[in-house]
Amino acid sequence: MTETQGNRYTLEVLDNGVVSFRHTQTGEILHGSVGPEKEATELYIDASGLGKCGKSEVVVFDVGTGCGAQLMALIDFLKTSQSVQEIHVYSFDLEKEGLRAALEAREQFASVERNHLFLEKSLSENSFTWKCGENKNFHWKFIGGDFRETIRSLRDKEPQLKADFIFYDFFSPASHPWLWTFELFQMLHSYCKETTHFVTYSSATCVKAALVAAGWFVGTTIPSGKKAQSIFAAGSSGEVANLLPSKFISTFSLSHKPFCDAETQESQLEIRKRLLAHPQFSEG
Ligand SMILES: C[S@@+](CC[C@H](N)C(=O)[O-])C[C@H]1O[C@@H](n2cnc3c(N)ncnc32)[C@H](O)[C@@H]1O
Repeated sequence: MTETQGNRYTLEVLDNGVVSFRHTQTGEILHGSVGPEKEATELYIDASGLGKCGKSEVVVFDVGTGCGAQLMALIDFLKTSQSVQEIHVYSFDLEKEGLRAALEAREQFASVERNHLFLEKSLSENSFTWKCGENKNFHWKFIGGDFRETIRSLRDKEPQLKADFIFYDFFSPASHPWLWTFELFQMLHSYCKETTHFVTYSSATCVKAALVAAGWFVGTTIPSGKKAQSIFAAGSSGEVANLLPSKFISTFSLSHKPFCDAETQESQLEIRKRLLAHPQFSEG
C-alpha cells in the first residue's frame, strides 16, 4: 500500500441539504456544495464543451475517478447525445474504493441508481464495452495505480493515444501537491491535440502557472461549487473562451503561493521562464 491508498469515504448531508462524499483522511468534501451529480454535469460535461463538441467519437481521461461522478455523468451523456456514438474513457485512480462507496450509497444518487449495473461490472473488470442504446458504445478502461506512473506507462503502451477531454479531479493541490506539478502537466500535454479540452475544479494560481508552463493555453470557466471559478485549458488559444489575461503574470509574481509544494527548485525556475515566454502572454 502506498501512502495515499486505502482512501475511505463517508456520506455527508451538507447544510443546503445536498448529499455528498467526505474523504475521511483529508476531510475534503469531494464535490463541493453542489454535490456529485451537479458538479459532474455542469463543470465536466457542459463547461468542458463535451456536450456540444459535435464529434461522433471521443476519448476522455477521467483523472481521479473516485466515487465515479464523472463516470456516471459520461454514461448519462452518451445515452442522450445526438452526435457522440462512441466514448473511450480512461479512468485513472489508485483503487476502486470510491466506486465501491458509490455503489453502497446508490439509493442516495439517481445517477448511480440508473447506472448501478455498470458500476457493479466496473468493480470486477478493468476493461469492457458497455452498450448505451442502439449503436452507442461506452468503452471503459480502468488504469489502476499511481497516476505519476500510470500516465507514463500508458504512453509506452499506446504511443499514438490523444485525449479529446481531460477531467482532472484529484484531491486539492494543498493536500496532494504531487498530483498538480509542472512535470505531470507536461506529461499530460503529450496526450493533447490543438482541440483537447482540460477542465479542473481548482482555481489555484500555482496550478494555472504549472499548466501554462507545460504548454497549455489556460483560462477560466464556471464555478464548481468548491471555488468561485474553475480552470479550463486547451491545446490552442482559439479553444479557450476566457483566456487568462497578461496581468496573470503579476498575479503570479505577487502570489504567496506561485508554486505547488511539490515543485523542485529546477521546476520553479523552469515554470517562471516558460510562463514569460508562453505565446498566451508574449503575443498580441
Ligand atoms: C477527489 S477524489 C475524485 C473524485 C471523483 N472524481 C468523483 O467523481 O467522485 C480523488 C481520487 O484520486 C485518487 N488518487 C489519490 N492519489 C492518487 C494517485 N497518486 N494516483 C491515482 N489516483 C489517486 C483517490 O483514490 C481518489 O479516488
